[in-house]
Parts: sequence; C-alpha cells; structure tokens
Amino acid sequence: MCGIVGAVSERDVQGILLEGLRRLEYRGYDSAGMAVINGESSLRRAREVGKVAALADAISANPLSGHLGIAHTRWATHGEPSQLNAHPHMSGERLAIVHNGIIENYQELRDELKTEGYVFTSQTDTEVVAHLIGKNYQQEGNLYNAVKTSITRLRGAFALAVVHADEPDHLVVCREGSPLVVGVGIGENFIASDQLALLPVTDRFMFLEEGDIADIRKDQIKIHDRDGQAVERTITRFEHGSDSADKGEYRHFMLKEIYEQPRVIKATMEGRITETRVLEQALGTSAANLLENVRHVQIIACGTSYHAGMVARYWIEDLAGVPCSVEVASEFRYRKHVIQPDTLFLCISQSGETADTLAALRQAKKAGFRAALAICNVPGSSLVRESDLVIMTQAGPEIGVASTKAFTTQLTALLIFTLALARHNGLSEQKEAEIVQAIHLLPGQVSDVLALDAEIEAMSKAFMDKNHSLFLGRGSQYPVAMEGALKLKEISYIHAEAYPAGELKHGPLALVDSEMPVVTVAPNNDLVEKLKSNLEEVRARGGELFVFADRAADVKPEEGIHVMQLPSVHEITAPIVYTVPLQLLSYHVAVLKGTDVDQPRNLAKSVTVE
Ligand code: AGP
Repeated sequence: MCGIVGAVSERDVQGILLEGLRRLEYRGYDSAGMAVINGESSLRRAREVGKVAALADAISANPLSGHLGIAHTRWATHGEPSQLNAHPHMSGERLAIVHNGIIENYQELRDELKTEGYVFTSQTDTEVVAHLIGKNYQQEGNLYNAVKTSITRLRGAFALAVVHADEPDHLVVCREGSPLVVGVGIGENFIASDQLALLPVTDRFMFLEEGDIADIRKDQIKIHDRDGQAVERTITRFEHGSDSADKGEYRHFMLKEIYEQPRVIKATMEGRITETRVLEQALGTSAANLLENVRHVQIIACGTSYHAGMVARYWIEDLAGVPCSVEVASEFRYRKHVIQPDTLFLCISQSGETADTLAALRQAKKAGFRAALAICNVPGSSLVRESDLVIMTQAGPEIGVASTKAFTTQLTALLIFTLALARHNGLSEQKEAEIVQAIHLLPGQVSDVLALDAEIEAMSKAFMDKNHSLFLGRGSQYPVAMEGALKLKEISYIHAEAYPAGELKHGPLALVDSEMPVVTVAPNNDLVEKLKSNLEEVRARGGELFVFADRAADVKPEEGIHVMQLPSVHEITAPIVYTVPLQLLSYHVAVLKGTDVDQPRNLAKSVTVE
C-alpha cells in the first residue's frame, strides 16, 4: 500500500527521501510527493501522479533542498489518483503530513472542520488529519502536543509523520494499526513504513509499538507509549545485505527473487533441522509446550500465503494426523466460528502487515485459541510482535508484487513446523528422517528446475495471445495449481482459474477448446494415473495441454500435449519444487506481453488496508 519516508539530518534530505520512495514504490504507486523544510523560512512541497520517477523529474527541475522532510507513495483509497489527492497534505502553508492507513471517521471530522471554516482541496481522509493537527497546533503552539491531542479523535488505522515550518528541527510520528519504523543514524535519524526504504542510510531500526508517538530529531529520539510513559524501543540490526533491494543483473525483481529460491529455502531450513531430525527448540523455547496438546490447527492468510496454508493442510493431516482448517482472513474475520478445543491459530504472511490477517489474529487472541503461531518474512512486523510463537522465513526482502520466494520459504517453514507437530502425534523417527532428508534436497532440486528456464520461456509463447487458461492439480498439487493461476493472472492479466483435476468434468470442461491452454502439475504420486485420465478428457475436447511431470510419471508428449520433465522428488516436498516452473511460466508470459512485471496494475505489495 502507501509508503512513508522521513528524515532529519545535517545534510540535504531530498536525495534520501527520493531513494526511500523508490524503494517503497513496490507497495503502492499511483502518485508520490515530498515536503521539505529549509530552516524556518519555508516548507516546500512537490506532488506528481504516476511513478516516483515523475516526482524525481519535478524535483530535479525545482529542487526542494532542506534538512527536514517527509515523503510518500500513494495507493489510492479515498479519492482518485491525482495531484490534489497525493500526499503530503497541508494545513495552511507551514504544516505537512503523510499518512498510511485509513481514518474511518474522516467524514464526521471533515464535516466538523468544514463548519469551523477549514477548506479542503482533496478527497482524502489524510487532509482531515492535517487540518485537525493544524487546528490543535493553533491552540497548543507545539507540534508534539498537537499530534498527541489530534490522534485521540481518530478511528481506524494510521501511521503519521508530521512536520511544521515553525519547528524545523524535528518530525513527529505515531502509529496505530499501520507499520512505522525509526531508522537510527549518526547525527541524523529517519522514519519509514518499511525498513527497506532506509537501507542506504542505516541498518539500525526501532519498531514503534501500537499507540507509540515519537519525537525525532537529528541527535535524539524520544518515544512515548499510548499511556504517555516515556519508553525505549530496542534497536535491531537489519540482517540481510543492503543490496537486497537492487535488481542486480536481473531484468526484474521477480526474476531475481525466483532465482534466489535455492539460497533462501536453504536459509529457512538452516538451524532448524539436522540430517534427520527437526530441532524443535529452534522453533522457539515454548514450541514443545505449545505443540504438545494441539488438537486442531486453524490457518489464516491471504493470497499466495493462503495457498501455502492450503498445501500445509495436506501435510498436517497426513503427517501429524491433526485436523486442519484453512480460511482466507477476510472471510474468517467476519463470520462466527466454532473454536474446537486446543486449536492452534496459525497466520501466514510475507509482510506481517496484511490488515485482514492481523484483524483475524487480534480476534483470535480474544476468542480463546490455544496459541498464535506466525509464519512471517518481516522481522519486527505487527504479526511477529503479536504472535506467541514465530517461525521466520528467511526469504529476505521481496520486492516484486507477485510473491515467489516468500511462498516457497513459507512452505519450507510450514513443513518443518508440521514435522515438529507430527512428532508429538506419533510420527515415526524413520518417517521424520525420510522427510527431513527430502527437505535437504530442495535447494538442488529447485536449481534443477531453474535450469529449465529457457525451455519454459519457449513454452510461454503459446500463452501470449490467449485470454483464458486453466490450471489443474490433484491433492497437495491443487493449491500449487491455484498459486500458478494467481501468478499468471496478476502479472500477465490473462484470466486463469485453478481446479482440482477431478472437478473438471463437473463444469469447467465445457470451457475447454483450442483457445484455452490447460496447465497441469503431475508429480509421480498415487494420483498420477487418475490425473492422466483427466488429461485425456481435455485432449479429447481439443484442449492444448502443458504438463509439468515427474520423469517417472511417464506422461508422453504428443500432438497437443507439451510435457516438461521435472526431476523426481519426494511426494511431500513436490509442491515446493512444482511451484517454480509455474512462476517462470507466468514471468515469461508477462514479459512477452510487456506488462509491468514487478508492479502489476491495481495491486500493492503490502495490503495494509482492508
Ligand atoms: C500474490 O502474489 C500477492 N502478493 C498477494 O496475494 C499476497 O500474497 C497477499 O496480499 C498476502 O500478503 P502477505 O503474505 O504479505 O500477508
């Protein structure tokens, strides 16, 4: 969604803010803006519709030099993408604000402020906050107090950064429901909605807690919690290389991230498994205790993370024999649910900031689940902080909106978790060893699939002029087919639907003709013979098949059946390996179609609003 950056420094902050915005652009990208204060004399602002590059051009024509500034990339919620709706918003000529999140009572506040004579130039909820702080500033004569008073009137989710030209040596920031991190520098300090924005200037971060309000000066950071108590927040160091946000030799972040998978899958398993066993302690000191009496697992997630949860259900029921339910967070949070005794609540999220997933977690904590476990990729995110037990994936920053390495590392973490749970439920040492050994083979097997890239690229040409496609899988490969369909639709804009192959003749078969490519994942498992019959059904209707099949599955290429042979893999780890060719296929189709692969239209990387 939207991204925030702010800086206070001895040096000119314009370049720092612009680079921060570039790094946040993946979150939301319909407009961008910046406000900079140069001494007490002036507050200057620039806003442009479109990408950060448009703002950079505007600023290079009319520089906004100064030592204190805030900046924003916007993903429209209230009001169309336009210059007037772009942040920063101002109250008068001297106060500016950037905001992430949604102010639910903005209409009521807007009406109130209008009757007091405030004039609105945008349709946003943010401008309401600007005027509210502006009004309180007039009464308090102090920016910190004005922000503190104002936020008591706000309902909804927000992270705010505010500056005033009369107080040119600090910015005031706060968070309630939207992420905000303070970047700690030497003789300069920064804020951002994501630490990634600040990696060129610091690797030390403090994550604000819900309700925190902070006064950020170049040589001082003061934080108060929602009760007004002065608090210290721990400084953590960013662990990944600061070049994680660069494309390097790759044409797109998505391709780079696909290729990083052997390394990050390895990083995710490291320290958590021996040659033959899962190290339960490595999942957290409380893991053994928590897992001992789990009788049911409720998985909650959105999008790609939901697909990871769907795969995990097969594993959890198969290996641990524990019943498992999986639901998308936006549905779960709005229905009454029956909680079975000793249910573990498991949230999966790359960002750890997805609004629906967090809302579901917060409900669950009140509802009496046994404990909350998070599988997450962003240290310090809200999900991580609010869960009882956390298994971090080690994917490193994922910039492409289309999730790739986050998914396969989520699956790796979920499989390790499943084995730990299964051990409490009678999984034999022999079976555990067999699967752990299969996990160790994953980085090499994924590399083998990446070696098929050129062939997959050639295959992708067949999809270029198609408007629809079907993805088929059976068992734990059904969610893999769902993930493949999601990848294709989100970056190539080709309509793609996934079905369990056995469902084909219950309806979707009617759609099959030569214009409907059918993609199928076919590892060599108990269901492969049944899957082959499903493929015959497609072929008999003139459908063109693209089959990713285990060498040993003996799926024969013939007219209308394109077969790509994959290495033989263990049935349990197959969903991880079979995801990769589908990622590459979507990527190449999107490149051929010339879409914006890393920032597909209408989508944002981190969905921090409902
Ligand atoms: C998929 O490629 C998307 N990026 C999207 O479906 C994503 O998985 C979803 O928004 C959930 O995000 P999260 O994992 O950060 O919670």
